[in-house]
Amino acid sequence: MSQYDVIVIGAGPGGYVCAIRCAQLGLKTAVVEGRETLGGTCLNVGCIPSKALLHASHQLHEAEHNFAKMGLKGKSPSVDWKQMQAYKEETIEGNTKGIEFLFKKNKIDWLKGWGSIPAAGQVKVGDEVHSAKNIIIASGSEPASLPGVEVDEKVVVTSTGALSLGKIPKKMVVIGAGVIGLELGSVYQRLGAEVTVIEFLDVITPGMDPEVQKTFQRILKKQGLKFVMGAAVQKTDATKTKAKVTYKLRKDDSEHVIDADTVLVATGRKPFSDGLGLEALGVEMTPHGQIKVGADWQTNVPGIYAIGDVTEGPMLAHKAEDEGMAAAEQVAGKHGHVNYGVIPGVIYTWPEVANVGETEETLKAAGRDYKVGKFMFMGNGRAKANFAADGFVKILADKETDRILGCHIIGPAAGDLIHEVCVAMEFGASAEDLALTCHAHPTYSEAVREAALACGDGPIHS
Ligand code: NAI
Repeated sequence: MSQYDVIVIGAGPGGYVCAIRCAQLGLKTAVVEGRETLGGTCLNVGCIPSKALLHASHQLHEAEHNFAKMGLKGKSPSVDWKQMQAYKEETIEGNTKGIEFLFKKNKIDWLKGWGSIPAAGQVKVGDEVHSAKNIIIASGSEPASLPGVEVDEKVVVTSTGALSLGKIPKKMVVIGAGVIGLELGSVYQRLGAEVTVIEFLDVITPGMDPEVQKTFQRILKKQGLKFVMGAAVQKTDATKTKAKVTYKLRKDDSEHVIDADTVLVATGRKPFSDGLGLEALGVEMTPHGQIKVGADWQTNVPGIYAIGDVTEGPMLAHKAEDEGMAAAEQVAGKHGHVNYGVIPGVIYTWPEVANVGETEETLKAAGRDYKVGKFMFMGNGRAKANFAADGFVKILADKETDRILGCHIIGPAAGDLIHEVCVAMEFGASAEDLALTCHAHPTYSEAVREAALACGDGPIHS
């Protein structure tokens, strides 16, 4: 029986990052992973492959829509789907192999197989039982099911199947206008599919800044995505090659049917902890099936910790990574901490959408006085030159102290721009601090500075 200081269950971004930090802190560490490759959902069937397809299809969009305007004439590229898939697979392989290299470098053992916890201090993988002073569960999440909708990962698919379709569909129906639905819907729309998104609510991307929601939907519509809003999907009827999707409009209860070659079910994910043996151990769970943890990520069973999607909070790779590092420090007797008020969210469509901190709605609900500084990318020289001037940066700051409370961006490179605001928020900066910081010209980041200026005496370029 091998003995470890820490065994991490799951090698996604939460688990592998946690293991690396544990090893760096001098703890003898192993990771249990049942997939053929490391990296979990994110690297294998999530963030990384979807970004490869988003990148490739965005290049096609640029060629079709903007090249001629810049004097780049000639036939637009045609899509070789097999080659695009191969590029995606190579991207995955490069990343998963990278984690394997990091495990070797940090002397982390990969225990191959699916793990369970027969008792505190023990992890079973296959027939072998390993002992560990600490166990950190990082088993992630899986797509949530929808009543009446049977997923076959061929015609009716989750995000996993949608990344590896046999061919580009002519007609695609996406159920759910959340992050997955809009990212993958964008991919196939750009590749030539007619994409219809069916959303239960009257807005897309619930919880996001309403102005961003409206602008985002307008831009996506302009790109060709169709939306059926306020509609609850009742069922899908699929054959081997096609499907019918039945939905009811909430406003009048009328029933409608729409045909599709592919149906993407993107109505959320749920925590995954099946087979770990948590019930027998008496590990406390939330009513939503998440593992309940304390401020140090320890469960009610001493020595058993949990991080990432399997716990409460947003299901984001970077939230899991931060928790992984912090939990490792806690296990090593240090003071790991995560600032849950400064976790950015990004949607990698074109344009990108990014946010951090409070929204106007959460501030209103809290009765907090705030001011809004907004700047349109239309006033940003770089964005105009690059056909990327649709969108804006909106900074929310405390009305009295000017402290930055939140930021919402829709526009070019929003996913990168948001981080200067994150850093500012970590330092408790005021909007004036950002506004007084010199920003290189011409960059998109000037729009962030202008939004900060708009919280004070006003922006220059609007
Ligand atoms: P989501 O929670 O973002 O969106 C699901 C949408 O489906 C909601 O708008 C909801 O109102 C709608 N819906 C639910 N039931 C419905 C029904 N019966 N008919 C029509 N619409 C219905 O979930 P999504 O997009 O599946 O993503 C899952 C998780 O993965 C999220 O937590 C997300 O944050 C994470 N993720 C993050 C990414 C990123 O950070 N870029 C990328 C992909 C996933």
